[in-house]
Amino acid sequence: MSVEALKQQIADVEAEARRLIEGASEGSLLEDLRVRYLGRRGALTQILREIGALPPADRPALGQLANACKARLEARLAERGETLRRREFAARLQSEAADITLPGTAPTLGHLHPITQTLQEIVEIFHGLGFIVAEGPEVELDFYNFEALNIPRDHPARDMQDTFYVSDEVVLRTHTSPVQIRVMERTRPPLRIISPGKVYRCDADISHAPMFHQVEGFYVDEGVRMSDLKGTLETFVHQCFGAETGVRFRPSFFPFTEPSAEVDIRCILCGGSARLPSGEGCRVCKQSGWVEILGAGMINPAVFEAVRYDPERYTGFAFGMGVERIAMLKCGIDDIRLFFDNDLRFLKQF
Ligand code: DAH
Repeated sequence: MSVEALKQQIADVEAEARRLIEGASEGSLLEDLRVRYLGRRGALTQILREIGALPPADRPALGQLANACKARLEARLAERGETLRRREFAARLQSEAADITLPGTAPTLGHLHPITQTLQEIVEIFHGLGFIVAEGPEVELDFYNFEALNIPRDHPARDMQDTFYVSDEVVLRTHTSPVQIRVMERTRPPLRIISPGKVYRCDADISHAPMFHQVEGFYVDEGVRMSDLKGTLETFVHQCFGAETGVRFRPSFFPFTEPSAEVDIRCILCGGSARLPSGEGCRVCKQSGWVEILGAGMINPAVFEAVRYDPERYTGFAFGMGVERIAMLKCGIDDIRLFFDNDLRFLKQF
């Protein structure tokens, strides 16, 4: 081929390659073009080979021309490749973008069960009065649940509590009072103890559940008097139900206290008037204006003897209250079973 013809061919190849490179819409097409023009069998490579066959005098000028053309095409390919890569990346950013300003799904936050809240509140009040927490087992020996609390086997008081027996000697504790015995057995006065926990009785209706919670409290030292008990429980009632709440002590009987009392507060629902604003009789206090919230008394000397405390030297008071009862009054609920149904629509209100 003549020198002129080859020159023309180089120019044609370059023009064609440039047109196709500019028109390529994807990076992968550029690679095809590189093979087609610059590859081992590419159009420009063929031309270089033909230049090799020219007379030596013609080779340098044409060779330079072809190599320069090759260099320009390589540069164009690289540039166009870069442009396409940037364009593809921008398109991906656009299509895969996440809108971080959209509101997220907030995890729902739970809260403590109203019984746990009430229990903690009761314990907190006694904490403030210098009482410390002690706990005992829920599966308890008959000895601690009854015997040592001055309730022998044939005692009619055993009928007051419908006991779940595990065996002859083992029961599910029917009250938290056995913690008194367990603590006194291993410690010496002065003692100021508050003991929250679960208790069990074979009983179920609108105001009784087979499992419920009690808080036991007791104070033993030299010279503890009934007036200490009154002052302590009045303070508790005023902190728990409000400073204006009326309190009264009624004589009662428990085998482990002497004398014994039951403590009533002015009805929270009707304010003690026994009638509701509607004129209807109050069902919470059964129209008496008072509701019982706990049992209490001066610890019976027979209990001290069971734990080898000298009843001539020490005196003490004790009390026990039902947590569900207090929670029902505070929340204005008249069916204890609501606490244990686990209906979130109910629980969420507290
Ligand atoms: N243990 C009693 C009950 O379950 C409550 C009670 C009454 C506890 C008088 C006491 C107390 O500590 O002094 O019904």
